[in-house]
Formats: sequence, C-alpha cells, structure tokens
Amino acid sequence: MENPFKFGTIVEEEYFTDRVKEVAYIKEFVNSANHLVIISPRRFGKSSVVAKAVKQTGRKYITINLQQVTSVSDLSAKLLREFLKVHPLERVRHLITHFRIIPTVSSNPITGSIDVSFQPGVDGNVLIEDVMTLIEQAHSEQDRIIIVLDEFQEICDLAPNLDKKLRSIMQEQQHINYILLGSQESMMTDIFENIKSPFYHFGEMMRLAKIPREDFHQYLSERLAPCYPDTCDTLAYSILDYTGCHPYYSQQLAANIWQIGVLQPGTLSPLKVAIDHIVTTHDLDYERLWMNFKRTNKWILQQLSSGKPLQTGEYRTSTVYSALKRMQKEGYVIYSDHYEIEDPFFREWIVRENVGS
Ligand SMILES: Nc1ncnc2c1ncn2[C@@H]1O[C@H](COP(=O)(O)OP(=O)(O)O)[C@@H](O)[C@H]1O
Ligand SMILES: [Mg+2]
Repeated sequence: MENPFKFGTIVEEEYFTDRVKEVAYIKEFVNSANHLVIISPRRFGKSSVVAKAVKQTGRKYITINLQQVTSVSDLSAKLLREFLKVHPLERVRHLITHFRIIPTVSSNPITGSIDVSFQPGVDGNVLIEDVMTLIEQAHSEQDRIIIVLDEFQEICDLAPNLDKKLRSIMQEQQHINYILLGSQESMMTDIFENIKSPFYHFGEMMRLAKIPREDFHQYLSERLAPCYPDTCDTLAYSILDYTGCHPYYSQQLAANIWQIGVLQPGTLSPLKVAIDHIVTTHDLDYERLWMNFKRTNKWILQQLSSGKPLQTGEYRTSTVYSALKRMQKEGYVIYSDHYEIEDPFFREWIVRENVGS
C-alpha cells in the first residue's frame, strides 16, 4: 500500500485538500490584467495552491523558483527554457533572431528535453530584457501567459538593481500576468509595501493561512481509516492539535503514523511513537541549530515551547520583540494570531532537552 500522505514537494490531486476558495480566487484574478503577490511562511502550500490554480485556467504558464537561480543570465536561460516548453522553437525562432546575444538551444532527442544557455560573461541585463520582450511579443491581450516567480524575495540577492530592471521591463508588458510568491514575510512586505521599492504596490497582496481544521481533519481521517478503522477520527484531531494545523508537518506526522499502522499494527500509541521517531531522526540537526542561537533566542524558544509568557521581566520587551522578528525572518518562528515555533518537532526537542538539563 502506498503512503497516502506526502510532504516536502508540491502536492496535487489526491494529496491536496481544500483551498477551494483560494484556487477560485487565483483563477478569477488572473482573468484581469493585474498581478498577484502571495505571502505565507514556508511550507504553508503556496506553490501547491498556485500550481493547481494555474493548471486549471487552461492557459499557458511558466514557473521559475528563484531559489534555484544563480545569476541573471541563469534566470534568463531558465525563463527561455520554460517558454520553449510551451512554444515550439520553430514557431518563435524568428523572434529569437532579434536577440542581441543569441542563446544556444539544444534538445535531447531521447528525452525531448530542451537546454538553453548563454555564453558566459555577457551582460545579464541585456539577456533578461530580450527574453522578457520575447515572451511579451509571443502573446496578445486575448492570449495572456501567466508567469509564476516562486520565492521572489531572492531577487534582492541575485544582482544589484535587478529589482529596478525587472520592474521597468514588467511595467511595459501587457500580455503577462505575474504571480509572485514569497516565504519571507518581512522581505516580501518590504519589496511590495515600501514606497522606495521598485515593486511598491505592484500587485494585489494575498496572505495564505493554514488549512482550515475541519477540512484537514476529514482529509487525514479518511486516509488513516484503512490502518486505524476505530481510532482514525481521534488520531486526526490529535495530529492537528500537535502541529497546530500546519500543512507540511501535519502531513509528515500523518505519513509516519500511517507507516507505523502498516509495519507495526497494534502499536499502542502510534502518535507518540511517530513523534519520537521524527524528533530522534532530527536530533543532530536540532542540536546544531540550538548551539548557534544566542542566549536571548534560546530563552525565547524555551518559553514558547512550553507555553510560558515572554513578558517576565527577564529581558526587555524591545529586546524580546526584535529577537522574535529576527527569528521570524529566519523562519524559526511564525506568527498567525500568536507567535509559535515553526517546527513542532523542534519544539518537542527543546522541551525534552529542557527537562533533561
Ligand atoms: N492543500 C494542501 N493539502 C494538503 N497538504 C498540503 C496542501 N498544501 C500544502 N500541503 C503540505 O505542505 C507541504 C508544502 O507545500 P508547498 O506548496 O511546497 O508550500 P510552500 O510553497 O508554501 O512552501 C506539501 O508538501 C504538503 O505536505
Ligand atoms: Mg514553495
């Protein structure tokens, strides 16, 4: 039996639950001439929800994850490669001949995959401009393409002034809907809400929340039922209580519990065994992480992990607040209606270490 839970990659089809409203909203939104910006902490399901929505539009689309891009030239090559997946080379060859720097395009006759590269050392700004112009020219108002730029906050690190350059190109375009996703709340708001930023008010902002508890519960419970016919309902609630409905960690925990059900049926408390297993597996990583935290951060994480207050007089409120902001930026802490440790298994590890010491 294949594990019915999946974590770590974009989830589709039977691994994807709910987000009905969000999918409908994104689909509707790209019918307009506007651009969309989606923000949430890591692993909340941005890439998955966008992949689902753009697929359903039936329109041409390109997705680039900026975390996997190493330079402006690489970004240009990747954009062109993705573009050539939706437009056969023969039909756009005449447009590429206008490029100031001609790319090398090769196709693998066996796999059918296309590879694009530019001669090293050339000016990235010229490349990106030519590629983006090509994409615009190949489309029309009736046939707009969707470009998804995932982990968009990475453009800030890619090259100096790339944001300015991109914005000036995008400003002129009318045949492209951009969907820009980002995981770093503070960087994303700085890009889109700081009046000095070239992307100030570039598009509509959408914040993706966790998956609603009841929907997620039904999803988990149904899939646990074959292994845990009598307890699936309670188990599913316990998973969500433990993870705070976090999409990724809930799937991870459910996958482990399911595996225990298959390999060691009759285990008395599968939830506890699964948690133990995950915490132990990551022990070394957590220890490394922990050693690199400053004392203030360690104290804050300890308080958060055991549900204790942060205003105890131990540290000044401003110190606590700025440390929290920093840890949120780095992804260790998330904020929805309160601050919490992002990874529930790391939280568990901290509690256990505390008891031990
Ligand atoms: N709609 C969903 N239904 C079920 N699980 C989901 C859903 N969206 C996300 N997940 C879980 O969260 C993980 C991370 O999703 P992903 O789309 O990569 O998030 P992000 O792009 O925000 O980092 C997925 O691998 C999956 O386990
Ligand atoms: Mg993602």
